[in-house]
Amino acid sequence: MERILAKDLLAHVDKLVLLRGWMNSFRALGKLSFLIIRDRSGFAQVVIEDKSMAKQLSELQPGSILRIEGKPVKSEQAGLGVEVLDPKITIEVAVKEPPPVEYYKPEIPSDLEFILDHRSIALRNRKIQAVFTIQAEMVHAYRLYMHDVIGAVEYFAPNIIGASSEGGAEFFNVDYFGYTATLAQSSQLYKQIMVGVNERVFALMPFFRAEPSHTPRHLSEGKQFEFEMGFFEDWHEVLDVQEGCIKAIIKHLNTHCLQELSLLEKPLVLCPEEVRIPRVTFKEALEIIYKRTGIDERNEPDLSPAVERELCKFAREEHGTDLIFVTDWKMEKRPFYSYPNENNPELSNTFDLLCRGTEITSGGQRRHTHESIVEGIKSKGMDPEDFLDYLNVFKQGMPPHGGFGMGLERLTMTLLGLKNIREASLFPSDPKRIAGNRIKAKIVFGGENMRNEIIRLLHQNEMEFTHKEHGETPVSSQGAAEARGIALEDGVKAIILRGKKTKKNYQINISAHLKVDMKAVAAAVGEKCEFEDPAVIEERFGLQMGAVPPFGPLLNLETFFDEGVLEQKQSAFNCGLRTESIIMKPDDLIKLVDPTMGKFTKGPKE
Ligand code: 4AD
Ligand code: MG
Repeated sequence: MERILAKDLLAHVDKLVLLRGWMNSFRALGKLSFLIIRDRSGFAQVVIEDKSMAKQLSELQPGSILRIEGKPVKSEQAGLGVEVLDPKITIEVAVKEPPPVEYYKPEIPSDLEFILDHRSIALRNRKIQAVFTIQAEMVHAYRLYMHDVIGAVEYFAPNIIGASSEGGAEFFNVDYFGYTATLAQSSQLYKQIMVGVNERVFALMPFFRAEPSHTPRHLSEGKQFEFEMGFFEDWHEVLDVQEGCIKAIIKHLNTHCLQELSLLEKPLVLCPEEVRIPRVTFKEALEIIYKRTGIDERNEPDLSPAVERELCKFAREEHGTDLIFVTDWKMEKRPFYSYPNENNPELSNTFDLLCRGTEITSGGQRRHTHESIVEGIKSKGMDPEDFLDYLNVFKQGMPPHGGFGMGLERLTMTLLGLKNIREASLFPSDPKRIAGNRIKAKIVFGGENMRNEIIRLLHQNEMEFTHKEHGETPVSSQGAAEARGIALEDGVKAIILRGKKTKKNYQINISAHLKVDMKAVAAAVGEKCEFEDPAVIEERFGLQMGAVPPFGPLLNLETFFDEGVLEQKQSAFNCGLRTESIIMKPDDLIKLVDPTMGKFTKGPKE
């Protein structure tokens, strides 16, 4: 039997059909049980009477893969208007582990950070899925428009390149066979080169930005819709293409994504086809804001986020659209390739497109003579030697040209009214995450590496300390104190524990003469703990018993310090090796390790 999709059930009423998909939910109501399965088209409801089948299903978790043969019948009660009766169900893959995130609910009842922590599973949620289905349609519409309407040719540029493409400091370096290469901030240089080949070109290219700021609209990796054209009479023709393109994308979504848009329950951006997107110069923009709000930024070189929001409010109230072009920016704020304004060289023929208060595009006319582009590079303090390939094309005839770069995630976020750009990226990278995953500290492995890293940290933070070599310290605290020649009370004992439930390791650091209070520890970490096996510690961290330093974060361990340590005259501990100790101020130690403080001891050891 051929498989049909959930969305096609109504067309198969009263016929035997085959469905395959994921169990989304299962609920028993007296004699009947209800199973919701999910496939790529949506959901289907299946009614089960068979008791043993119901029992088997009740033991499964969402995500289990099921194969169902049954008969769809129309049903008023079923939310979907149809339900499948008399099913024969085969469990293809049984999932026993509960999902870490409740993706099967209409809306995940967790915050964005938690959702991102479980991104690969959370993406299965219907609403989240809809965002990315719509995003894919945006890309499709962009390609159609560029290819069919503009007659541009798609290009594919390199991402690992020799020098910064936008200037500034926001780029990542990568080690490339021992050389330092750069991850492209955009394909700017290559799209200009391609104008010399095809006149009109477009692309969807990754970009990488080392933006340390953590804002709701910045990512470290994203995609840009790129466009570049040669031979215009007026550089505003670039704005015409941008305007046509964004309207084509919106029209496409309004015809092809109605189901997804209704799921998101938010109105799409306001951008009627017949309304021309207003175009104001940078100077006019600040005048408008001054007149409307009294906010006076008329001497600023850039638009503040508040002004950007206010400009979009102006566009909506005065023009009936959520978008606005701002043109003729000050040269000092634009990249080296920007074309100077004929009447005022302090200004540039450049534009930004703002949508719902956020910049989504930057673009403009480019310098197109060799002399001018060299001047542009030098004016930004860069070296023309770094741009030789690029510069050569300007010696071989480049027409007047210009284009734009529009952020895919920014566009998705603003068109759909999402609050955070991370919602518009499948696996977002930012200063705290790489491809969705939280960045974890690197584990320092082995005694010598550990000692070197601790000493490096101490120097870096300009802290006073003594580094002492001595005979091998025995495992006992008293013995260690004697080997170091330091009072027992001034020793710090670093203990690695293992959670009984999660098997996770924790570090508890206490004064050497006290006993650890396991109850207090359990309360702090949220589970009962036991001492980790020395052989495991050696294998996992490369550290011998008695050599472990109280620097849990360097081992990627959640770390706790007993308050008692702060009363020590000095703090002494083995720094990864049994034959070497560090002696430093307790305050400095706590500052450096940055642990959770608490009372984790039970009085002196007998
Ligand atoms: O304004 P940007 O930096 O301009 C360029 O890259 C030029 N090469 C464009 C041109 O053709 N002249 O970046 C263009 C767009 C921004 O408007 C924004 O939508 C997106 O790319 N973008 C980012 N989106 C998210 N996070 C970031 N860190 C972004 N940086 C740029
Ligand atoms: Mg920009």
